[in-house]
Amino acid sequence: MAAITNPMLPEPYVVGRVGKETPDTFTLTLARGKESGADGSSFQPGQFSMLWVFGVGELPISISGDPAEGDRLVYTVRSVGQATHALVSLGVGDNVGVRGPFGTGWPIEVARGRDVIVIAGGLGLAPLRPLIYQMLRNSREYGRLVVLYGARSPRDLIYRRELVAWARRHETQVLVTVDYGGLSWRGHVGVVTTLFKYAKLQPRRSVVMVCGPEIMMRFVTRELEAYGVSREDIYVSMERNMKCAVGLCGHCQYGPHFICKDGPVFRWDQVRPLLGEYEL
Ligand SMILES: Cc1cc2nc3c(=O)[nH]c(=O)nc-3n(C[C@H](O)[C@H](O)[C@H](O)COP(=O)(O)OP(=O)(O)OC[C@H]3O[C@@H](n4cnc5c(N)ncnc54)[C@H](O)[C@@H]3O)c2cc1C
Ligand code: FES
Repeated sequence: MAAITNPMLPEPYVVGRVGKETPDTFTLTLARGKESGADGSSFQPGQFSMLWVFGVGELPISISGDPAEGDRLVYTVRSVGQATHALVSLGVGDNVGVRGPFGTGWPIEVARGRDVIVIAGGLGLAPLRPLIYQMLRNSREYGRLVVLYGARSPRDLIYRRELVAWARRHETQVLVTVDYGGLSWRGHVGVVTTLFKYAKLQPRRSVVMVCGPEIMMRFVTRELEAYGVSREDIYVSMERNMKCAVGLCGHCQYGPHFICKDGPVFRWDQVRPLLGEYEL
C-alpha cells in the first residue's frame, strides 16, 4: 500500500547528477534519500515540486525529466537569485527536500489523436520536456508533434542534443530560433512567432501547449488565434510566487485562481481575461 505523505513535509532526496545546460542553467537529477518513506516519484508532465534547499529556503521548480523514470526527479534551474543560485551550486551527494508534485499537468488526454504544437520560450522548455518524452514514447496515439523553441542567443539554448534527436524523428518537426544569433549561428533569428511560417501547422486539428515569459505567451496566443486555433485548444503555464503550494496561503492568487492548485497549466480562455488586468 502506498505510504500516506503530508504535502507540507519535504521528502529527503539526494543530488545524483548535475549537468550544465548554459552558463547559468543546470539540470539536477535527484534520487530518493534512504530515509524517505515515499514509494515513488510519479508525476504528470507540467507539474512542479517545492524544492527545499537547507539553510536557504524553498522554491517552486517544474519537473523536467521523463515521467516513465519514476525512481528519480529531474529539474532544470536558472540561477537568478539567492535560492536558485544555492540550488545550482549543489554537488553530487548533497541533500534537498522535495514536496509535491503539485498543480495541474498538460492535458495529454485532450491531445490524443490530434497534432500537438509545443511552443517554448527560454526555460519554458523545461516543463514541456516531460510532455515531449511521453508523446514520443506513445507516438501512435497522437498526430504530428511540432516543437517551436526560442531563446535569447545560441548559448541560452537548453537540451541541445535532445532537440537534434527529436528533430530526426519522422513524426516531429523541431524549429529553433534565437533573438541574437552572432556570427557563427546559421539558424533562424527572430522571436518564436517568426517560426510559424516554416511550421507544418494544421490549426484546427491541433492542441497547443505554450510556456515561456508572459509577454511571449501573449504574443504567441494572439498569433495562434490569428492562424485559426481556437482558444479552447491552447494551454499555457503560469508562474507566480508560491509558499504553501496547496491552495492555503493565497500567495499565488491570480484573479479567482490559485496558480499552485488550479494551475500552473490553464486553458487559455480561462486566464486570457486576466492578463493585462493584473501586474506582471
Ligand atoms: C510553477 C513554477 C515553476 C517554476 N519552474 C522553474 C523551473 O523549472 N526552473 C527555474 O529555474 N525556475 C522556475 N520557477 C521560478 C523559480 O521558482 C524562481 O526563479 C525562484 O523562486 C527565484 O528565487 P531566487 O531566490 O533564486 O530569486 P529571487 O531572489 O526571488 O529573485 C532574484 C531576481 O530574479 C528575478 N526573478 C525571479 N524569478 C524569476 C524568473 N522565474 N524568471 C526571471 N527572473 C526571475 C527577480 O525579479 C529578481 O530580480 C518556477 C516558478 C513557478 C511558480
Ligand atoms: S502557494 Fe499558497 S495558495 Fe498557492
